[in-house]
Formats: sequence, structure tokens, C-alpha cells
Amino acid sequence: MATLVYISLGSLLLLGNVCFGSNYYVGVGIADVTGPAADINMMGYANPGQTSHGLHMRQMSRAFIFAVSPASPRVIFVNLDAAWAGGAVKRQVVQKLKKRFGNLYTDKNVCISGTHTHSGMGGYSQYLLFDITALGFNHQTFEALVDGIVVSIVKAHDSMQPADLYVNKGELLESNINRSPTAYLNNPEAERAKYTHNVDKDMVVLKIVSSSGVDIGMISWFAVHCTSMNNTNQMISSDNKGYAAQQFENMFNPGSAPGKGPFVAAFAQSNEGDVSPNTRGPHCLDTGKECDVPTSTCNDRNELCVAFGPGKDMFESTQIIGNNQFKKAVELYNSASFKLSGPVDFRHSFADMTIQNVSLSNGSKVQTCKPSMGYSFAAGTTDGPGAFDFKQGTTTSNPFWNFVRDLIEDPSPELVKCQEPKPILLPTGEITKPYLWQPQIVDTQLLRLGQFVIIAVPGEFSTMSGRRMRDAVSSILIQGGFPANTSTVIGGLCNEYADYITTYEEYQIQRYEGASTTYGPYTLAAYIQLYRQLASAMAKGTPSPDGPTPPNLLDVQLNFVPGVIFDLAPSGEEFGSVLQDANPSYRAGSQVTVRFQSANPRNNLRTNGTFLSVERKDESGRWIIAFSDSYWETRFHWIRTETFLGYSEALIIWDIPIGQKSGTYRIQHFGTSKTVTGTLTNFVGTTSEFQVVAPR
Ligand SMILES: *[C@@H]1O[C@H](CO)[C@@H](O)[C@H](O)[C@H]1NC(C)=O
Ligand SMILES: *[C@@H]1O[C@H](CO)[C@@H](O)[C@H](O)[C@H]1NC(C)=O
Ligand SMILES: *[C@@H]1O[C@H](CO)[C@@H](O)[C@H](O)[C@H]1NC(C)=O
Ligand SMILES: *[C@@H]1O[C@H](CO)[C@@H](O)[C@H](O)[C@H]1NC(C)=O
Ligand SMILES: *[C@@H]1O[C@H](CO)[C@@H](O)[C@H](O)[C@H]1NC(C)=O
Repeated sequence: MATLVYISLGSLLLLGNVCFGSNYYVGVGIADVTGPAADINMMGYANPGQTSHGLHMRQMSRAFIFAVSPASPRVIFVNLDAAWAGGAVKRQVVQKLKKRFGNLYTDKNVCISGTHTHSGMGGYSQYLLFDITALGFNHQTFEALVDGIVVSIVKAHDSMQPADLYVNKGELLESNINRSPTAYLNNPEAERAKYTHNVDKDMVVLKIVSSSGVDIGMISWFAVHCTSMNNTNQMISSDNKGYAAQQFENMFNPGSAPGKGPFVAAFAQSNEGDVSPNTRGPHCLDTGKECDVPTSTCNDRNELCVAFGPGKDMFESTQIIGNNQFKKAVELYNSASFKLSGPVDFRHSFADMTIQNVSLSNGSKVQTCKPSMGYSFAAGTTDGPGAFDFKQGTTTSNPFWNFVRDLIEDPSPELVKCQEPKPILLPTGEITKPYLWQPQIVDTQLLRLGQFVIIAVPGEFSTMSGRRMRDAVSSILIQGGFPANTSTVIGGLCNEYADYITTYEEYQIQRYEGASTTYGPYTLAAYIQLYRQLASAMAKGTPSPDGPTPPNLLDVQLNFVPGVIFDLAPSGEEFGSVLQDANPSYRAGSQVTVRFQSANPRNNLRTNGTFLSVERKDESGRWIIAFSDSYWETRFHWIRTETFLGYSEALIIWDIPIGQKSGTYRIQHFGTSKTVTGTLTNFVGTTSEFQVVAPR
């Protein structure tokens, strides 16, 4: 026994330090986390009308595990195609990892960062506010996220190998604008003078190459909201960052379907709080003129002031902003030469953000507050205005909303004072019925990969907030003995989600981001103080305290979405019947539209599978899958045609690429129907064969 231990320990050391000559030991993994493609509200715009009715690009979890050697401390960075992860999802993921791997992966060294797509499925937060438009907590969404994240991490764990890491940084222009420029302008002039732009234009790229020179993976960070798809979109989509990731992975995994190849590319979020991808800026929907800038209204109405661009519609805008990020990441990846060396390390503490005592640099002692949302929160932003309106009488169609509206009370005088000058719309921190509305205890975390440090923040930092945070952490680390060439990046929307974080000066202006800075005017100052403590502990090599434990509210969650009762097909049709067949022939570059009798996609999420396939007949007459539902070129629309009788249809669109191989094709639709007694039956629909011929 003793000899065995000795030998394996010896070979581990040899593996880590001698044999390969690589500085790190890295694994990557990807898995499908797509939620229900029907009936559930999408997370982000809080638009009650934006419920899922199909799928454009699947939501993925992309996991990366880093260590110096097999036996040394590890960190996990997960990039999740979702609005954010949230503490409940992370806790469940960590519990499942614990069952499998013991204490290897914990709250402290696992980081889950959301891309902040606004077209992912909702209803997975344990805090009430974020589930209101989803009509409560949705177990199907929650489990799809948790299970998929775990699968991606297990894949990364199983693929760990000696590798080297490189970082690079460069400017990406024409891909993001500030959506609250008047708030930004309230920051001190001397501070603004240090920067050319009112948003961060830098993209940071981490390149991962195996010891044998094989490209393994890439993570890029660029601050821009994933709101190219607007609040009228009803197909699940990973938006501009998801599109960029598919393009990058496709380059390294030629011939693999989305999410199926070995190379994993993540386009992660950063300090995007006040940053929009809609680069043509806000205009009035009715007149086409510019909106009133300070208030983002047209004739005093926020609903009409919407930002567009750069494309002619939301699809083209998603593609352009995605492509810009993709191309810049390729350029930075190919030219990356700064090779990382040094420890992999992490610090993590939970902190109660409602009771932080902060010493400001001018000597004042101040405090954070219980959560509250200001009036401008209800107005929304120019990326998705004004649907979250508690004050209008528009709540009757949402039973959960009606239920919670009656719980809203007036804020206490102490809360009003603490949150000044925010006019409080929702005193969320003072309502505990039926359970907490917003988190009070959140994660704070730093991840170190040699001379590169990820500042993992639990929310949406504004541009200037992110800059102040990076400066504060960098200076503590470098003063504490880190190499002078250490760089930092803000990892946005990591772990718990605690809304927005603006600077004190931006907060005074009370734009949407300031109104959503929940813990009051000193929220940023409190975070900076907490992250300085983490940085200091990391530099000194001392542990970070665990902090208070967040509550587990999973057992008390409410849900007002009825389940699927049953599916039926009208007489004369059956599930999978072709209702609109393909034409005999199409030119490459044109569009195929077909329709099938269908059933509710909630009956089976087809995780890691597909609701459709575009198939080509090969020389020997076999059908080869050319496209599945996660490709940009395909769209799956699910249409409820008769609610009472349970009829529904699938509308499938294939945009034939201009260079598509000529030949014989067909389209299939895969679904699952449910009887009134709960029996589930899979079905397949198949179109007639059709020809694809060269473009004219
Ligand atoms: C969303 O984009 C579509 C075009 O793709 C456009 O017709 C619609 O007006 C936009 N809606 C909003 C609210 O931005
Ligand atoms: C960064 O600085 C450290 C210590 O000064 C040095 O050893 C290392 O080579 C530098 N790395 C790069 C890539 O310049
Ligand atoms: C801040 O100070 C108050 C007393 O004034 C104390 O109750 C609270 O625990 C302190 N907060 C923290 C995080 O230590
Ligand atoms: C310190 O700065 C804060 C705002 O950052 C301000 O509210 C406070 O009055 C200042 N205190 C002093 C003593 O100047
Ligand atoms: C996902 O599907 C692929 C085939 O498309 C298969 O090889 C793989 O094992 C599946 N993964 C899981 C976790 O089911």
C-alpha cells in the first residue's frame, strides 16, 4: 500500500513538473443547458409577453479547469449561456460535484459566469423578484442548467492535460456603446480624462494550448450586453456571444455540430452594466428621431425609445456584434505571446451586502442598505424599455404578479434615508413574504492563473465601476508582491446575481442602472473594500473567511405555470404529419419553410439532442445530418394553434448557405406528445425529398 502511494505520488510530481515542460494542467468541456422551448418567460427583459416559442441557438455551459499540476489546487471557470447563474444553481452544482469528487471543487474555487443573454429561459432564481415574469420558480429550467453545468465540468475534469496559457488584449471598436451616457458624465472629470471612451473597448483573450501544441480552448472577455436579440424574440438564443462562440468553435472543430467538438471557446461577460450592443443608439419608434437623452423617452413615454443596430433587424445585429467579437478574438488568439507562469489560486467569501461598514478615502464612514429598486428600474432601458411596470393596471394577465403586488409595502424612513437620492419603487429588502425578493448574502471571489487574475463579481458593474475595481485589486496585488506584469479582468455576473453596481456619482443620476444598484449609493465602495480584502489575503497567502451562509429557499418556491396537460392532433392528422411540405427544389442561398403537426416541447427538452434535422442523402443512399436545431441557419418555431384541444405546430426554417453542397435533402422534426394520463410518446415527421441546386 505504502509503495503504491509513493509511486503514484512520484509519477504525479513527475507528470506535473518534469515530463511535459508545460506550466499548467487544464481541462475543457461543453454541454447543453437549454431550458423549455415553450410557455416559459425568457430571463432578462422582464417582458411578460416574451415567453419561449421555439429555439434558434441552444444554451451551452462551457467549463474550464485550471491547475499547476494534477495534485495542486484547482479553479473552475464556467461560462454559461444564461442571464446569470445565481446562487441556487451554483449551490446545487457544487453539491453534485461534491458527491462525485469529494472536496476537490467547492463554493470557493468554482465560478459560474453568465453571458447575460436575454433570450435564455427564466425561473431559476430562488429570489422572488427575478422570477416574477416567469410566474415563479421553474424546476425544468433549473435542472437543465444544473445538470448541464455538471456535465460540462465532468468533461473538463476528464480531459485535464498539461497545457500552456497565454493572455492577450486589444481594442474592439464599433461593437458597444454606453446606454446611460448622462450618468457616466457625472463621474469626476479628472477620472474620465484618463479614458478615451465611455465604455471599455478592450477584449481580453486567454489562449489554451496543450503541451503537444494542440489548441484546446479559449476564453475572451468583452463588456457588452447580450441584448442584440430584442424583447420581441421568442426563440431560445445565446445572442451575440453565443454566436461568436459557435463561430470560434467551428473554426477549430470543422465538421462538428454546435457544442459537439473538443475545442471549447467561451465569450464571457465583463463590466457591461451600462453597455449596449445596439450601436446605432436609441431612437423613437414612432418618429425615428433621437430620444430625450437624460430620460430616454419620446414624448415622455419610455416604451417608444429603443436602441437598434448595427444591422437591419435583430438577427443581423446579433450576427454583426457576434462576428466582431469572433474576429477580434481570433486575431488576439493568433497573436497571443504573453505566456502565463506561477500559481493557480483563489479566494472566496460570502458577504452580507446589507450591513457593510465602509471607510471612504475621504475619511467618512458609511453603510450599505437593504435592497431596494428605484423608480427608473420600472422604466427599463433602451435595450428593452418599460415592460416591468408595477404602476400601470397591466398586471391582470399574470397571477404571480397579482399575488406579489399585494405584498408590496411602503419603505421605512431608514431605508428611504439610506438609499437617497433613490426614490424607492420596491423596498425589496423589507418584504420577506412569501420569501426573500433579492439576495442579501452574495459571493465575492478572485481566481488567479499566474499573472492573470479574474475578479469574479456577482452582478453588472458599470464601465467606471469596473475600472475602479480593477485598479483597486491590481494595486493591492502588486504592492503585495505579485509580478508587475499581472493583469486583471472583471468576470461579470458570476455566481449569485445582485443586480447592478454603479459608481456613487452615477447613482446620483438614477438611470436604470443606478435605480437597480440595490444596496444603496455605497454599493461599489463596499464591494471594492471586500475585494481588497480578498486580494490582500491572496497576496499574503492567508485564507479568506467563509462569511455568512446564504439561505436555501428551494423548498418554499412558488410556481404558477401549469404543466403540459395533454397534446392532441386534429382528426385526419397525427403527430409529425407534414402540414406544409418542402418544394421540389431550392437554390442555395434561399430559404426552406416547412410545417409539422407537433406537441409541447416541454414534454422532452431533447438535451444534447435536437428538435429538427436537415439531412443530405449521400452516394450510398444514407441520410447524413447536415444541420440540427442549434445552428444559426435553422429556426424552430413552436406554435400553439388550439389551447383547449392541445393542438400545436412546428414551423421549421432553414436558410440554405450560399455554398451548400448540391444534392437531395429532407427535413425531419422530432417531438414528444403527452396523453391526458401522462404517457409520453416520441414521434418523427419527415418532409418529401427535395433538391438543393447551385445559386444562379
Ligand atoms: C425588435 O427587432 C425587430 C426586427 O428584428 C423589430 O421589428 C422590432 O421593432 C424590434 N422591437 C423592439 C421592441 O426593439
Ligand atoms: C512577468 O514578470 C515576471 C516577474 O517579473 C517574469 O518572470 C515573467 O517572465 C514576466 N512574464 C512575461 C510574459 O513577460
Ligand atoms: C457594521 O456595523 C454594525 C454596527 O454599527 C454591525 O452591526 C455590523 O455587523 C457591521 N457589519 C459588518 C459586516 O461587520
Ligand atoms: C466623502 O465622500 C462622500 C461621497 O463620496 C460624501 O458623501 C461625504 O460627504 C464625504 N465626506 C467628507 C467628510 O467630505
Ligand atoms: C451528446 O451527444 C453526442 C452525440 O451527438 C454523444 O456522443 C455524447 O455522448 C452525448 N453526451 C451526453 C452527455 O449525453
